[in-house]
Amino acid sequence: MTREGTREGAVGIDPEAARRIRRDYGAWATVYDWFARATASIGGVRASCVAALDLDPGDTVVEFGCGPGVNLPALRETVGPTGRVVGVDITGPMLRRARALIERRGWENVHLVYGDATTPPVSAADGVLATFVTSLFDAPDAAVSQWCGLADSVVVTNFAPRGSRAANAALWAFTRLNARLFDVEGDGALATLDERTAASRRALAARMETTERERFVLGTITLCAGRREEDGEDGV
Ligand SMILES: C[S@@+](CC[C@H](N)C(=O)[O-])C[C@H]1O[C@@H](n2cnc3c(N)ncnc32)[C@H](O)[C@@H]1O
Repeated sequence: MTREGTREGAVGIDPEAARRIRRDYGAWATVYDWFARATASIGGVRASCVAALDLDPGDTVVEFGCGPGVNLPALRETVGPTGRVVGVDITGPMLRRARALIERRGWENVHLVYGDATTPPVSAADGVLATFVTSLFDAPDAAVSQWCGLADSVVVTNFAPRGSRAANAALWAFTRLNARLFDVEGDGALATLDERTAASRRALAARMETTERERFVLGTITLCAGRREEDGEDGV
C-alpha cells in the first residue's frame, strides 16, 4: 500500500532533523536538480547503482530519498512499462520536481510517496535504492535494516572519505561548501560520513546473504549492495 502525493505528512525521524532537511533541500531543490542531472554520469556511479540492483523487467523498485528524480529514468528503463517505480521523499519541492519529470515523460508506472524512508511507507519490493540519503540519518543501520526486510536487493550509496589524501581533501571542501545539504558540520564531518556509510554496510551484511562494495570518483563515493535469494513474493 502506498500513499501517493506530495503533501506534508507525519515522519518518524527526529522532527528537528526533518525540519532542517525540508528547509534546506526545499530551498535548494531547483539547484540540486540541475547539479545532480549535470553530474549524473560522472564516474558511472548512478548507472552502477541501478545495475547493482539486478532488476528484471516487470519488477518493483523503491527509491528512498529520491529527491528530484535523477535516478528515475534509469530505474524506469530497467523495469520497463510492466514494472513499477516508487520514489519516496520528505521534501515537497523535491517531489514536485520529480513529479514534473514523470509528467514530461508520460510514465504511468512511476509513483511518488511523500513519506519518511526511516519508517518505510511501502511493504515489499524487488529492489530498494538509496543514493546520498542514509548519510543524513543519525541511525542509518536501523533504516537500512528495515529496507532489507522489504526487498531481496538493496543498494545504498554515499560519500565517504576513502580515497587518496587529495581526493579526501576535495571531499572535505565539498562538504564544507554544502554543509547544510550534508547536514554535518565542523571538523568531524568526514568522520561522520565515513561512519554512516560503514553503518549502512554493516546493516546490509547483517541482513543479506551477500554484500558487495564498489568505490567511485577516486574513492570518495562508496556503493554497498546486499542481496538475498528471491522468495517469489512481489509488490508494494
Ligand atoms: C542528497 S539528496 C539525494 C537525492 C537523490 N537520491 C540523488 O541521488 O540525487 C537527499 C534526499 O533525501 C531526502 N531525505 C532525507 N531524509 C529523508 C527521509 N528520512 N525520508 C525520505 N527522504 C529523505 C531529502 O529530502 C533529499 O531529497
